[in-house]
Amino acid sequence: MTSITILYDTIRLEEKLLIESAKKNNITIEMVDCKKLFIDLDKNSHDIQTVLQRCVSYYRNIHSTAVLEGQGVKVVNCLNTGIFAGNKLFTHMLLKKAGIETPNATVAFSKDAAMKMFDECGFPKIIKPTVGSWGRMVSKINDMDSADGIIEGKEAMHPIHHIHFFEEFVQRPPRDIRVIVIGDNAVAAIYRNSADGNWKTNTHLGGSAETCKITNELEDVCLKAKNTVFGDIVGVDLMESEEKGLVVHEINNTTEFRNVVRVTGIDVPKLMLEHVKGLQ
Ligand SMILES: Nc1ncnc2c1ncn2[C@@H]1O[C@H](COP(=O)(O)OP(=O)(O)O)[C@@H](O)[C@H]1O
Ligand SMILES: [Mg+2]
Repeated sequence: MTSITILYDTIRLEEKLLIESAKKNNITIEMVDCKKLFIDLDKNSHDIQTVLQRCVSYYRNIHSTAVLEGQGVKVVNCLNTGIFAGNKLFTHMLLKKAGIETPNATVAFSKDAAMKMFDECGFPKIIKPTVGSWGRMVSKINDMDSADGIIEGKEAMHPIHHIHFFEEFVQRPPRDIRVIVIGDNAVAAIYRNSADGNWKTNTHLGGSAETCKITNELEDVCLKAKNTVFGDIVGVDLMESEEKGLVVHEINNTTEFRNVVRVTGIDVPKLMLEHVKGLQ
């Protein structure tokens, strides 16, 4: 039986759930720590055939996917998904092109340009790293003083942070929606309610979760969003905008699902493994 390689750089609860599920359902997997790998790019000297890509690091994820895909390995999600979904600006452009609602956004390529944008377009604005997760460095900027300090700090960081990506602050209930999409099905969804006093709804920041019913509209938007980034197994995050209805603000290519499993009881790891097995 061909095994599924789970490529990881961190064992999160999700990876533990995948290991448990493989055991329970008799699915052969091999756990491979990407940090321990060296691969000769010119010789196909490993016996990896199908990979469930779970590396958290954007750079490790896309580079290891590029290597394996280049050597004929089937990787879920593929390189394009890693690149496009891993970067919020790239995702934004693809969602817009596909006619999917997403927060209005602006990019500025220097501090001067960013300050000019604030001068002309006003406040509040959300600033986000184009590559990032868990709500880290996602800030709401309400005035010129905080804009000046935040942008200056970012200019001193890695060049990826010199791409100043801003979104409108979307008026919505204090929650967002995480939908797990596997292949052509939206299999489970939760509302993530923000913790008291925090406008961000990440469960990493203390937000609480409850089951969300998957309506036809929700499934339709999520499948379209998944397809725009050439995804196969993704977590689509949406907000319920007062003005525009469902807006997609993020597509996660190595999605976390612990709260989805806990709250909905749906066996996401089993569905993921079965889906990847079906591709072999
Ligand atoms: N444009 C926005 N307007 C209002 N709230 C937002 C907006 N964008 C993000 N948020 C809130 O901030 C959280 C983190 O933003 P997100 O883009 O998902 O970054 P991360 O990848 O770090 O999770 C979201 O879950 C949502 O609650
Ligand atoms: Mg998020």
